[in-house]
Amino acid sequence: MKRIGFLVLLIVGLAACGADNDAQLDDLLQKANVFQLDFGPAPDPDKVALGQALFFDKESSGNRDTSCATCHHPLLFTGDGLPLPVGTSGAGLGPTRVRGQGRGFIPRNAPEVFNRGAPEWRTMFWDGRIAIQDENSLITPAGTMSLNQIDNVTAAQAMFPPTAADEMRGQSGDKDVFGEPNELAQLDGEEAIWEGLMARLLAIPGYTPLFQAAFPDAAVDELTFHDAANAIGAFEIAAFTFTDSPWDQYLAGDTSALSDEAKRGALLFYGEAGCARCHSGNLMTDQQYHNIGAPQFGPGKSEIGVDDGRFLETNTPAHQFAFRTPPLRNVALTGPYMHNGAYDSLEAVVRHHLDVKAGLLNYDMSHLVPELQITYRGDAAMQEAILETLDPLMIASTSLTDTEVGQLVAFLHALTAPSATNLAHTLPDSVPSGLPVRD
Ligand code: HEC
Ligand code: HEC
Repeated sequence: MKRIGFLVLLIVGLAACGADNDAQLDDLLQKANVFQLDFGPAPDPDKVALGQALFFDKESSGNRDTSCATCHHPLLFTGDGLPLPVGTSGAGLGPTRVRGQGRGFIPRNAPEVFNRGAPEWRTMFWDGRIAIQDENSLITPAGTMSLNQIDNVTAAQAMFPPTAADEMRGQSGDKDVFGEPNELAQLDGEEAIWEGLMARLLAIPGYTPLFQAAFPDAAVDELTFHDAANAIGAFEIAAFTFTDSPWDQYLAGDTSALSDEAKRGALLFYGEAGCARCHSGNLMTDQQYHNIGAPQFGPGKSEIGVDDGRFLETNTPAHQFAFRTPPLRNVALTGPYMHNGAYDSLEAVVRHHLDVKAGLLNYDMSHLVPELQITYRGDAAMQEAILETLDPLMIASTSLTDTEVGQLVAFLHALTAPSATNLAHTLPDSVPSGLPVRD
């Protein structure tokens, strides 16, 4: 009897403690203005069908050897599993992908592309070089684009990988996989490349009906690569938007969706650990730029081989080494992490945040391949330069116990949507060009 009484007390006590966590969390979420995310409307199925073909078709790369999926593969959770991607002329997929002869790495980590249909998105890229300007237009590397022409930031982004020499277009003088000249690599400027791409696509009979169905009000020969990009964006949104993570269920009102450990992690995230200062709002990113002391390696973006991040866009000294706060849904699936894949475990990322200076100075690069290790900028001058513009929100270190770090990591795992864990069904069997879909 006594023992049963004790058990009852224990269970009631634990339940009360759980409810207490919920009340406390609810309070923090209210204060932080965090609600259920609006995942956006479902795109038009005909646009999605065209977009799927384009996303997986290597025809849109100069050498006919690279597709969007090369770096954002469904079997790798919309990333490539690599710290830094391997672009055109490479072979294989994901961690086993090898560079083509004389080709380098792409300077930045390929981010995941989950939930990009949420209307709250107003920027793209680690440095935000695509961004909503006002209700009618976007800023892009090719100048202002009208929102009459392009559906949203995600669609606008899809215009650019095929124009990038190392990602998809190829180098002048390249031959494609059939040994034919790569005509796209001879073209100058985005407009010419987009025209060249449309000419390529519309020369393939299988694309005409797909474009016609997706854009029934226009004659096919009036369509531009903007339309193709709108379709690619529609596919990404339709295929990679998931609402069923424990955290999203919790935000929808199901307090039983989150384990107690993850709830404690959430309390830290929105409370004491201060994560929501930057991973704020419904998308878990403020879409702002912060230097949080990530180590530098890889080819970089400047002449001296470093990646200055947002500074490259704004020339504002405070933006040196600042990168856009990443969103965190499905983050447990999408390592390696940071703008260059500097860490391959969530625990390492969390520990870096808690003491940025120690993270930078004691950086362990053992998960990097030797070709990247030799590019690591561990010299004092580089480290001082990075620490100089550290984000003010990052300067103080936060001390958490190992248990608390575990709770934060458990919370990050609760951001995984079960339906994002197997995306094989998003792969088409074939694409209109007939080029291989599987690597
Ligand atoms: C060779 C690898 C590679 C290929 C091919 C590639 N990407 Fe990416 N993608 C990247 C990298 C690297 C970034 C980050 C670049 C940056 O921020 O400067 C990126 C960024 C993105 C983003 C931005 C996400 C965000 O929120 O910032 C989207 C969306 C995306 N790619 C979609 C695509 C699509 C669509 C295609 C095909 C048209 C494509 N990518 C082709 C490597 C690649
Ligand atoms: C000062 C703003 C700021 C704060 C506070 C902050 N982060 Fe971040 N976080 C960032 C930025 C910026 C990056 C990317 C930095 C880079 O790549 O150079 C990042 C990267 C990450 C990543 C890697 C995601 C990916 O896809 O690469 C995770 C996970 C993460 N943060 C979790 C946390 C947690 C947990 C906390 C609280 C302990 C936290 N962050 C606090 C700004 C912040």
